[in-house]
Amino acid sequence: MIQLSKPYITQMEIDTVVEVLKSDRLSMGRYTELFEKQISQLAQTKFSVAVNSGTAALHLILKALGIQQGDYMVVPSFTFVASANVALFEKAIPIFVDIDPRTYNVDATALEELLLRIEQGRVHINGQRVRIDKVKILMVVDVFGQPVDYDKIEPIANRWNLKVIEDSCEALGSEYKNKPCGSFGEAGAFAFYPNKQITTGEGGIIVTNNENVAKLCASMRNQGRGEDEAWLNHVRIGYNYRIDELSAALGYAQLTHLQEILYKRDEAAKRYSQLLSKYSWVTPPYIADYTTKVGWFVYVVKLDEKINRDRVIDYMSSHGVQVRNYFAPVHLQPFYKELFGYSNGMLPVTEKISKSTLAIPFYTTMTLQEQQTVVDILKEAVERVG
Ligand SMILES: Cc1ncc(COP(=O)(O)O)c(C=O)c1O
Repeated sequence: MIQLSKPYITQMEIDTVVEVLKSDRLSMGRYTELFEKQISQLAQTKFSVAVNSGTAALHLILKALGIQQGDYMVVPSFTFVASANVALFEKAIPIFVDIDPRTYNVDATALEELLLRIEQGRVHINGQRVRIDKVKILMVVDVFGQPVDYDKIEPIANRWNLKVIEDSCEALGSEYKNKPCGSFGEAGAFAFYPNKQITTGEGGIIVTNNENVAKLCASMRNQGRGEDEAWLNHVRIGYNYRIDELSAALGYAQLTHLQEILYKRDEAAKRYSQLLSKYSWVTPPYIADYTTKVGWFVYVVKLDEKINRDRVIDYMSSHGVQVRNYFAPVHLQPFYKELFGYSNGMLPVTEKISKSTLAIPFYTTMTLQEQQTVVDILKEAVERVG
C-alpha cells in the first residue's frame, strides 16, 4: 500500500525524545521554549505559544481576540472542520465565504459581496438577520500550503473592522511575497499532526506580534494561570492545552532539518506535476504568482468534472494506493446543516471544487518510482471506472 502520508523521523528525533524521557521534565520545559523560539524565527513573529493541537491554537486566538456568544466569524468552508468549529466553542457563528477556483483560498470579490450583503441586511441565518456590527473576525486559511492573497483581503477586512486570523495549520514554510505564512493578521496558527510538514505527534502553535494576545494565550493554555505561572493562582478561565516536552522535543528536532524536508517535498511536488502534465483530465495544484514559496502539505489534484471522483477513490484504494477527497465543505457537514440550516447551493465554487479534488500520496521520502505507480493507478482508475 502506498500511504497517503507518513512522517519523516530520523535518529536525531529519536535521540532527542529519549533524552527528554531520561530527564525529569516532561511538560513545560526547555524544549517547549526552544521550539517556540525556533518557530518565531521561522514565522518572523515576536511571540509563539506552543499548545497541544492546531485546534487549540485557533481556539485560544479567538478567545484572546475577545470573540463572544452571538458574534459572527467569516471563514471559508473549503477547510478542515476545526477552522470553523472553534467559533462554535465560544457560541459564535461561522458565516462561510466562497473561494477562488484556482487557489482554493478566500476569494476577495466573494468576501466583499458577502460583507456588503450583510451590511444591507440581506443575510439571514435560521431566520435571524446577521448584523454587520456583530461580524468581528475573518479567519483566512492557507489551504494545502498555498497562501491567501493577503494584499487583496486586508483592505476589505480593514474596511469592515474585522480582525484577521491566519489559519496556517497547513502552511508551515510557505511564503506570500517573500513573507512567511502565519505572520499576517492579528495572529496565526500552525499544526503538527503526523501528516504535516513537520510533526510533534499532536501539537500546534500560535504565532503573533501582539504581546497581549501572546500573554493571554500562554495563560489560557495553562489553566488560566497568571503571568508568574504560580501554582493554584488562576486569573481567568483556561484549559489544559499545554504541549508536553516529548512533543516539543520532537518538533524541535524536526525543525533542525526543516529546509531539507521542504526541499524534498517541493521536489516531489514538481515530479508529480511533471508526471501528470501529459493528461488533460487532471489539473495539478495551481501556484499563484504571489506565492514565493510553498511549504507543501498535501498534493491535491483536480479531476475533470465528468470523472466520477468517488469511484476513482474506491478503485485506487483497492489497488494499493491510499487517496482521499479533500475537502468536504464544512457548511454541508450534517451538524452545520442542522444547526444553521446551511444547504447545497450556498457556495457554488466550494461545492463544485470539493466534488473533483483528490489528495494523492505525498510525503517527504516519496520516490519517483512510487509517484509513477500512483500516477499509473490513477490513470487506470480514470480509464476503467471514472
Ligand atoms: C486548515 C486546518 N486548520 C486546523 C487544523 C487543526 O489542527 P489539529 O488537527 O492539530 O487540531 C488543521 C489540521 O489538520 C487544518 O488542516
